[in-house]
Order: sequence, then C-alpha cells, then structure tokens
Amino acid sequence: MTKRDELARARAEHEQLGDEIAAHDRAYYQNDAPVISDADYDAMRRRYEALEALFPALVDENSLSRKVGAAPAEKFAKIAHAVPMLSLGNIFSDEELEDFVARVKRFLGLDPDAEVAFTAEPKIDGLSCSLRYEKGVLVSAATRGDGLVGEDVTANVRTIADVPERLAGAAPDVIDVRGEVYMGHRDFAALNGRQAAAGKPLFANPRNAAAGSLRQLDPHVTAQRPLKFFAYAWGELNWGELNRGEVDPDRPADSQNGMMTAFRAFGFKVNPLTKLCRSAGEMLAHFRDIESRRASLGYDIDGVVYKVNDLALQQRLGFVSRAPRWATAHKFPAEKATSVVRDIEIQVGRTGVLTPVARLDPVTVGGVVVSNATLHNEDEIARKDIRIGDTVIVQRAGDVIPQILGIVPEKRPEGARPYEFPHVCPACGSAAVREIDAKTGEAEVARRCTGTLVCPAQAVERLRHFCSRNAFDIEGLGDKQIAFFYEKGLIRTPADIFTLQARDSKSLTRIENFEGFGKVSTRKLFDAIEARRDVALNRFIFALGIRHVGETNAIRLARSFETFEALREAARHATPGSEARQRINDIDGIGDVVAEAVADFFVEPHNERALDALLAQVRILPMEAVKSDSAVAGKTVVFTGTLVKLTRDEAKAMAERLGAKVSSSVSKKTDLVIAGADAGSKLAKARELGVEVIDEDAWLVLAGVGASG
Ligand code: IVH
Repeated sequence: MTKRDELARARAEHEQLGDEIAAHDRAYYQNDAPVISDADYDAMRRRYEALEALFPALVDENSLSRKVGAAPAEKFAKIAHAVPMLSLGNIFSDEELEDFVARVKRFLGLDPDAEVAFTAEPKIDGLSCSLRYEKGVLVSAATRGDGLVGEDVTANVRTIADVPERLAGAAPDVIDVRGEVYMGHRDFAALNGRQAAAGKPLFANPRNAAAGSLRQLDPHVTAQRPLKFFAYAWGELNWGELNRGEVDPDRPADSQNGMMTAFRAFGFKVNPLTKLCRSAGEMLAHFRDIESRRASLGYDIDGVVYKVNDLALQQRLGFVSRAPRWATAHKFPAEKATSVVRDIEIQVGRTGVLTPVARLDPVTVGGVVVSNATLHNEDEIARKDIRIGDTVIVQRAGDVIPQILGIVPEKRPEGARPYEFPHVCPACGSAAVREIDAKTGEAEVARRCTGTLVCPAQAVERLRHFCSRNAFDIEGLGDKQIAFFYEKGLIRTPADIFTLQARDSKSLTRIENFEGFGKVSTRKLFDAIEARRDVALNRFIFALGIRHVGETNAIRLARSFETFEALREAARHATPGSEARQRINDIDGIGDVVAEAVADFFVEPHNERALDALLAQVRILPMEAVKSDSAVAGKTVVFTGTLVKLTRDEAKAMAERLGAKVSSSVSKKTDLVIAGADAGSKLAKARELGVEVIDEDAWLVLAGVGASG
C-alpha cells in the first residue's frame, strides 16, 4: 500500500470514528444516556488519537481533539403555545394571603365580605408541560419554554404512564391539558442509585431529574425514567360537539374544580389534596394541612396554589404581565443551613453595579447544593457585619438566589476584620461611586463603576442583554460567544454584531478557523444575525438596556411613541420640567424615575453615537401585536367618571389587552373617552376637542364583552 493509500484509509477511519465519538458525546452530555461503556468509549478515543499521532495531516479544525466538551446542544423542535403558559405570583405570609383575596374582590368590585370561592392545591416542584389533544387524541406536548414557545417533547411525554394517549369518555374538539411533570422521591433515589452504579453524574434533586429526563433527545431514555404527571390547568379549549344541542349553553365545566373533575374523567391524575375553600381562613387552614403532610407526600412541593374557582370571574380578572390575577402561589418558608464564608467577590453587572457575592463552603439547602450567596450591597454587609471566615446562616427559597440571613457570632474566627468594600471597579479599575439621590440627598445603596464605556464587565453584560431572548434574540450569540468575540475585539458595541460578517469576509483570521467554530456553525451564526436585522420596536427599546426600562416599560414606550424616532426626539429634549419630559411622564405606568432614566440615556453622546451606528444596521418594525383585530387596537382611550360594571383597573386592563393605549388625560391624540357617572372636566375637555365619548355599556359592546340591562 502506498503512503497516499495509507493516508486515505486512515482519513476514512478517522472520519468515521469522529462521527461515532461525537454521537456518543451527545448521548452522554446532552441525553445523560451513554449507549456504550466508558471503557469502549475510551478505546475509540485512543484509536482516534493514535491515528492523529501517526498522520498529523488529519488534524484540522474539525478534529475532536481540538474541541473542548460536547458540541453545542442540539435543539428540540419548537412548539408555539396556542395560549401562553403563564407563571404565578408569589405570596409568603398569612397577611399576603388576606391581601390577595381582598385584591381579587376589589378588582371585581365586590364587597369585602362577599364570598369568592378558591381552589387550593399543592404546588408541585417539577416542570410544567402542555399536552395538546385533538378529538381526544394526544397530538403534541411541549415544555413551557419562554411561555410563548416551548420545546417539542411529544415522543418523550408519550412514555409517561400518567399521560393518556386518548382521553376517556366524550372529549372536547381541542384541549391543551397543562400540568406538572415530576419525579417521586423513591423513583428519584433509585434513579440516582443507577446513575452512581453506572459511574454517571447524579441529579441534584427530583426536579432536575424530571427536567433532565423529559428534555431528552432519545425517548427511549425518557421511557426508563419514572416520570409522573398531575393535571391542573388548560390552554386552548374548544368543547365542540360537547356543547352543541345542550339545553344549558354553559360550558361543560364552569369552574376550576369542575375542570379538575373533567380531567379526572379524561383519565388524568389530579392532585388529591385539591380543595375548594370559601374564605381566606379556609385557604390558610388547608395551606397548614398541606404543609404538615409535605414530608410524607412522596414528591416535592414548594407551596400551595390558590385559584379563583369561577371561570367567569377568572376571565374578568385576567392577567397582569405574565401572571394571572386570579391565582397565586403561597410558598413554604425557605429552608436554612449554615456554612462558612471563604471569600467575598465583587461582580460587576450590566449597569455597572458592584455586587458582593459570598463564596461559601458548599452546603445543601432545600435539596440544592449552594456555594454562593448574594450579599446585595455594601450597606448590607456592614449591617450584618459579615466577615471572611464567618459562619453564616444560608437560606434558599424556591429558585431565588440564596441569601445570607446573618452570622453565628460565637463562631467568628479570631482576627477576622470588617470587610472593606472596594472603591474601584474590579473589572476596569475605574472609580466606583455611590450616586447621591437628587431628592433625598442620600447616597444610593448601589456602588457603580463609572467606566461605562471602558468597562469590559459592562460591555459584555450589555451585549448579552442585547442578544438575549426577549431583546434581539440572536441564537448562537450566547454568553460564551459574546465574551469570546469581545475579547478578540470583534464585537464591542451592538452595531458590531451586524457588521461582523462583512468584516470577517475581509479578514485574514476567519472566524470559521477559530477553535470551536468551523464552517457550519459560523454560517449558522451569520444567518441568525441576519435574521434579526428586522426587530420589533418594543424589543429594540428593551435591548438598549436603559436603566429602569424592562420589557413592560419598553412596551409602554413603544405603544405610546409608535416609532423609535419619535421616542428619541422626545427623549433628547426631555430636560427636567420640559414638555417633552412631561410627554414621557404622562404614559400610563411610567413615572419620574423611568422618564429621567430614558432622558439620561438619550442625552449621553456616547450612546447617541452607538445608536446611530446600530440604526444604520437594523430596521425597526412596529411594536409586536397585542391583539390587533379589536375595534380599539392602537387607539388611545381615557376612562373617566365612575364605572359601575367594571372597576377602573379592570377596564384599563381590558383596554390594554385589546391593544389600546390607556391615557390619564384627554388631548387631541385621544381617540375615545369612556365616561362613567359624574364625569367632570375630562368629559368637558373631550367634548371641547370633539373626541368621541361613549358610556360604559357602549364600551363593553365595543370590547366584545356585550352589555345587558
Ligand atoms: S397553575 C395560569 N397549579 O408553578 C396558572 N401551577 O410558578 C398556571 N405549578 O409554571 C399555573 N403546581 O409549573 C399551577 N398546582 C399547580 C402547580 C403549578 C406547580 C408550577 C407551574 C407554573 C409554576 C408557576
């Protein structure tokens, strides 16, 4: 055999082995499901390396020996939820429970003594899943994802015994059955036993095990994991035939509890501790009862969920941002443990805030290993007098970052000195200062780095935020890649992202030659960037990372200004006391602090320059649609006077849901005024300006709710 033949054969084997090893890596790293023994895997790997040692020509940028870890996670197909999957608000105390019940009644305009029934049921600590049944047959299943789009886990869900393939009895035309996929304690222990025996990594808790098992690329693996399912909610629901020809035009179930009964009839498991309660007192009693049984349930729960029972009331209550007004989660008190502070590190956030983080000896709190805890700010450290070497009490509640409650004074080591908070940014060396609040004259709690433009910590954080899912949503530009491109000097500002490809094509050191990139992923990255040159106005505003402008305020600004130029123009002139400042201030939900932050952002010349560069690269589309087919979509409405069928909050929320802007004052820009009883000056102004005025009933008709009597 000639040398050349030898090389060709080696190349073929090398390539084949490379593919196989990559497949095993995926099975191991992404699926937790190796299909060969470690010894066999090692043997393949050794052969692969031996070939490279013999034939160095085989080593190119695709060689596995030049890659660290596994290939980027393969993606699941995506499923858009027909109805968004929301999260729940939290309450932690008896008082908050009373407040929640009172708030519901107030919103509905009910007497504080009126009776509103709630269901109370355990909050299962698993992961939520939406199962779609059409004509009674399971057609797809998706994880929650970002609430709007989840991952397609249909094949995996089909392996869960609690999930019926077909609904029993008469089934609706369409129903998304929602609930929690979870793993019981005994099954969890057994699974970890098997993992240990196979030398595989252990799962930290049943929730992680359930998530890891459901988000498997190979359903055979899921099938071997003992997952369970409780149904507790629904998304799209069309009763179809079930409703036709019935004397009572009501839906087959008109209450939360009725739906639970329906779920049971369909063949689902519904949590047996679900109970109908008629007062805050009954809810609290049931909360205590569930809490007392927590340890013996056999699965993890982290609280109790209360839901208004009457579905018509649920409908009226609606949602506020991402959580329903008609439900909340009453969380169990956090679990505690003690550990030792080994060090205090300072992290610099996107907005330049210096945040101290305690590095702790690892300790298990509530089933999760904790080795870091936030110390919030320098005042907090001083107040608790936390010193390096101190033994501290650590608390963890749900998914929130672990907190340090305080120190154990008798365990303080001798010679421990009070912690001195740095006055210099650890990332860039710029001075770190505490701003003086103009109103109170007091120093802000946060110490901030002043090197906004030179500070790498802020720049990288800013870019990360810019690319994040609810901002520009650039796939392939994750934390690691951004840090990498930043370090290489290829991306320093948002505009650089969009010029990356053009610069790369002219560069001698091409991105595809960097370790871990390659032709295919570079192509994908460029495509992902190109796909985001068109961006909705609200996302664009959010992406800028203006202080106090989160998603909701970005939507408010977008809705009010409609174009970026209009916002920019106003913000540039929004000096304190100016008309432009007032214009921003007048937006419902936006106050002084936000208006000031917006103005500050746009007057900063460096930001102006960065913006111009960015605007040359992207095209801003109108705000993402809320609900554009309604009669009031895009209109500016003002409510005035006393409404009798709706509370003011309810009316406002209704209008916003229909895509209208709600304003508090009448001007030429007002499209519609809804005047209740005793309307005064606003009504007069509307008449004067010739703005259309309607009464509450007409509003209900317009909003598609209808009015009677
Ligand atoms: S109801 C619109 N009920 O809690 C309300 N959620 O914090 C939909 N969860 O994403 C949720 N047990 O994963 C509801 N009995 C229960 C629950 C429950 C656990 C989870 C669910 C949700 C999260 C919100």
